[in-house]
Formats: sequence, C-alpha cells, structure tokens
Amino acid sequence: DVIAPAPVPRTRSLSRLRTAAAHCQACDLYRDATQTVFGAGPRDAPLMLVGETPGDIEDREGRPFAGPAGRLLDRALAEAGLDRDAAYVSNAVKHFKFHREGKRRIHEKPDAGQIAACRPWLRAELAAVRPRVLVVLGATAAATILGRSFRVTKQHGQALEWADFAPASPLTTEDGPPLDDAVVVATVHPSAVLRSRDRSAAYAGFVDDLRAAAAVLS
Ligand code: URA
Repeated sequence: DVIAPAPVPRTRSLSRLRTAAAHCQACDLYRDATQTVFGAGPRDAPLMLVGETPGDIEDREGRPFAGPAGRLLDRALAEAGLDRDAAYVSNAVKHFKFHREGKRRIHEKPDAGQIAACRPWLRAELAAVRPRVLVVLGATAAATILGRSFRVTKQHGQALEWADFAPASPLTTEDGPPLDDAVVVATVHPSAVLRSRDRSAAYAGFVDDLRAAAAVLS
C-alpha cells in the first residue's frame, strides 16, 4: 500500500527525476533494498524498454538489467539489430523485492500496490523520453503499461499503437497519457527465457519479437 505518494518532480530532466526517486518511500520496498534502481539511457532514445523489477545484481550496482537477464537482453538486442546503449531501459518497479534463503536473496514479484505506487516514476520517464518504440518485457510491465487484460502470450511481437491503449492505460492520469504516439511491442521477460525448458526456442522467439521493434526504427 502507498505509504507516501511518490515524490515525482514536474520535470523532463532524467537526472532530477533520478535524484528524487532515490528518496522514494511510496511503498515498503525501499526498506530492505540497497537503493532505487532508476532507468538508464539517453533522454532522446528512440527506443525504451521496460522490465519488472531490479534483481539482486541490479540492486547492488544501481543499474537496470546489469545481471544475467541483462546479458541475455543485450545479446538479443544486438542480434535484432538494436543497440542497448542507444536505448532507455527501465523497470515497472524500481526497488528489488526479495526474501532470504540462507545467504541468497531470492527475487519476488511486486504486488499490485507496489506497482501502482511506483507507476508515477515510469510515467515521468515515458513523458521525458517519449520513445518512438516502447518494448514491454513480460506480463508485469504489460499490466502496468497496457492494462491487466493484455496477454503477452497472444500479442507478443506485434507492432501496436500506443494510442489504442492510452485511454485505458494505468499510466494515463487526469493530466492525460504520458505520451501521444509510439509503437508498442510486447515480448517475454528475458528471465523467462533463462528459465525456459527450451531455452534456444524461447530465445529465438524473443529475438524475433525484438526484430519487430527494430523494423519500426529502421
Ligand atoms: N529483471 C528486470 O525486470 N529488470 C532488471 O533490471 C533485471 C532483471
């Protein structure tokens, strides 16, 4: 549940947003996490990618997709003809959620309240970057951006119009949607590829979906 509303400044400056997000206490996750893992990448990025939550390594390093899922993502992006360094990469929720098993910290999915509490940050990032193409990585990001009825399994790899989702998007507030037009491509989460029983098929499908994003940008 929301403890204090996310302290989002009214600005399109990513560095000011990032500084403010470092002090966010809008949900309980800040208590046990090492730091806020804000999005990273250029403000004029034509491509933005959104995942779920930082993992163990991201929590330590303070950078999204810095661990195993990130390495897989980087490789898949390159294979699809996309450059990670030219993209803005973020997450639906910006603190690591975990439980301990011995010394290990095991990732947990954020709940609806934590996702809602963090949403103003994602909204602000989208409004700042205004990407031409938005890649949604997995069901959590899809629910927070496209709404809960969206099914990644059915619509992955399609170039969809943001404008069709904007009216019902959880990111749309009384101030309107965070961006006017963009193409949205949903795909699986790279961690799901790592966990998949047929990893090479899952990886190939992931790269195919990313190619749909690359085709819009080329
Ligand atoms: N998984 C995510 O969704 N985001 C990260 O930053 C790392 C792993």
